[in-house]
Amino acid sequence: MGNAATHEPLDLAAEWRDMQRRLVVHLETGSKTDLADDVMQIEAKVYTDPLRFAAEREKIFREVPLLVGFSGELSSAGDRILFDAAGTPVIVLRGSDGRLRAFLNLCTHRGAQLATSCERSKRLVCPFHGWSFDIDGELKSLPLAAAFEGLDKRELGLVPVPVAEWQGMVFVKARAGEEEIDVAEFLGSAAPLFAALDLGSLRLVKTERVDVRSNWKFALDTFCEIYHVPVVHKDSLSLNLYPNVAIFDAYGRHQRYSGAPRDFEGLLGKPESQWPQVNYQAVHFLFPNTTFAFTHSLDGKTPVVAMFRLFPGESPGEAITLASTYGRGDAEGISDAQVAQMHAAVLEIVGVEDYGLARDSWPSLENAPPDFKFLFGRSEVLLQHYHRDLADAIGMPLT
Ligand code: FES
Ligand SMILES: [Fe+2]
Repeated sequence: MGNAATHEPLDLAAEWRDMQRRLVVHLETGSKTDLADDVMQIEAKVYTDPLRFAAEREKIFREVPLLVGFSGELSSAGDRILFDAAGTPVIVLRGSDGRLRAFLNLCTHRGAQLATSCERSKRLVCPFHGWSFDIDGELKSLPLAAAFEGLDKRELGLVPVPVAEWQGMVFVKARAGEEEIDVAEFLGSAAPLFAALDLGSLRLVKTERVDVRSNWKFALDTFCEIYHVPVVHKDSLSLNLYPNVAIFDAYGRHQRYSGAPRDFEGLLGKPESQWPQVNYQAVHFLFPNTTFAFTHSLDGKTPVVAMFRLFPGESPGEAITLASTYGRGDAEGISDAQVAQMHAAVLEIVGVEDYGLARDSWPSLENAPPDFKFLFGRSEVLLQHYHRDLADAIGMPLT
């Protein structure tokens, strides 16, 4: 249910103070990290079964609202996002009336791909025969109109796609349709947190697509636990993080975790009144496929949002990643060049360290015996949640 209370942003400073307390308890008592109740066993087939893969593409990547970006990417009439990673090519457009609309990227004459560039413009002109649509999706003109005499131009507008803009976040369902997306309902108890992050003020600095020959969930798993960090990221991320210390929070299907960077050293053994100012940081998991880190810890000083969206490719062993790095409204004086540097640094780590592992493991996983099972330990709690939730969304059990 949409609920008015969920529109109220929470007090991020108080929230962060509470999170810091939990992390400090872990660091000071040696309890280390939040844990799930149990170890979870999962069949390797969950990653390799083609039927399951087809169900995910159909029931998740066409039916669940997907984050396509943030309002700052679509500030003026004619601004657009082209989104095809979920399979169905979609154009999201800021209309002349300021509203967002989304359409299939599909010309209504003979099905050509209509938009190929993200550049702002007042018209979408089809590259096949030159039909021209306005940014509200209406067919405006066509060469040799006499050849289509008798047809009503008003019925030849672009095919709508469900879209919603909420607190700076933009969602679509990647298929034709006109129904409303109730974002507050979709986000549920995570809504106040996302509202507090002021995501509408983000400025996109870099985005790129990375393909990896592995299953999309196997690749996504690497963003969702810190157990691998001291091993896979021994010489990179782990230099700035206490090993295996994290707090987890679940908000229905959405989740959050936060590790303890080395700058927490200044908090240990001190009364709260003497804690130095350290800003909110966490990794957010937005069901079904998105993580975004709201952090300054990549280099210890540059605040960014680093977002990774994972999608199934053409087969269970192919995945698509959209990696985007944003400058933040609360980070004055940070230049695009600094944000771009963070983007390159993170992508290097993900591309080489995480995706090297995901890619190299795929032949082993793909050829595992049919009844092979593996484990999510109690610290891999986020994975436990999201694999259950994905299984639930497609109506196929995990074991
Ligand atoms: S297919 Fe677009 S104008 Fe012909
Ligand atoms: Fe990693």
